[in-house]
Amino acid sequence: MRRKLVVGNWKMHGNKASITELLGNLAQASAAAGAEIAVCPPFVYLPLVEQLLKDKGIAFGAQNMATAEQGAFTGEVSAAMLRDCGCRFVIVGHSERRCLFGESNTEVADKAAMAIRHGLVPIVCVGESLAQREADATLDVIGAQLDAVLAAVKDLDWSQLIVAYEPVWAIGTGRTATPEQAQAVHAFIRGRLAAVDANIAAGTRILYGGSVKADNASTLFAQPDIDGGLVGGASLNAEEFAAICSAAG
Ligand code: PGA
Repeated sequence: MRRKLVVGNWKMHGNKASITELLGNLAQASAAAGAEIAVCPPFVYLPLVEQLLKDKGIAFGAQNMATAEQGAFTGEVSAAMLRDCGCRFVIVGHSERRCLFGESNTEVADKAAMAIRHGLVPIVCVGESLAQREADATLDVIGAQLDAVLAAVKDLDWSQLIVAYEPVWAIGTGRTATPEQAQAVHAFIRGRLAAVDANIAAGTRILYGGSVKADNASTLFAQPDIDGGLVGGASLNAEEFAAICSAAG
């Protein structure tokens, strides 16, 4: 059985005061949820989040990391540094990284492999743009994104790797994929993973992301291949996020 996972992606939001308040309320509101819960703050708040989440049963991670181990890469943060700061997860290849910062499939794949080598669990984001969906290219795009990652991790222990399907047209737009649309892509993703290792694929958690809210979470999470959510906007509100976590079990 795959335990459901709900991850909050705070993006570039928050400050010390708002994060302290949010996590205080979230820890209370989500205490009864059976799903695994994690939050991904901006890098600079990782130590604060680690301190606030001590013994709260909520994990945390980063939103990005460098492809290199260390060295002269001004402004970058390495996988080893994230581990050192207590991160369990790292989001790689979020569509905002791909679209706004030009991250290629190869770069995203290298990050996923580097994360695994350092004991981090990569949450690999894949997804198509609206133009790609309308051109009927959704599965080709996602297949290529996944194949690059699988080629990079197949000789490592990728059994913990997480995939997040985030249709770009649904992120922050209030437009959610229907549960059926999402399920079809999730099943495709699991099939693609299974072509490399069927056992690992059966246990891999595939999250849905893109305008997940308290009122659509339970129908999405009821789909057989949707194992939780990667939540942006709604994760900045403790009550809303806790309700999404409860919908996950
Ligand atoms: P959203 O963002 O929930 O605000 O659509 C999801 C994401 O970008 O991970």
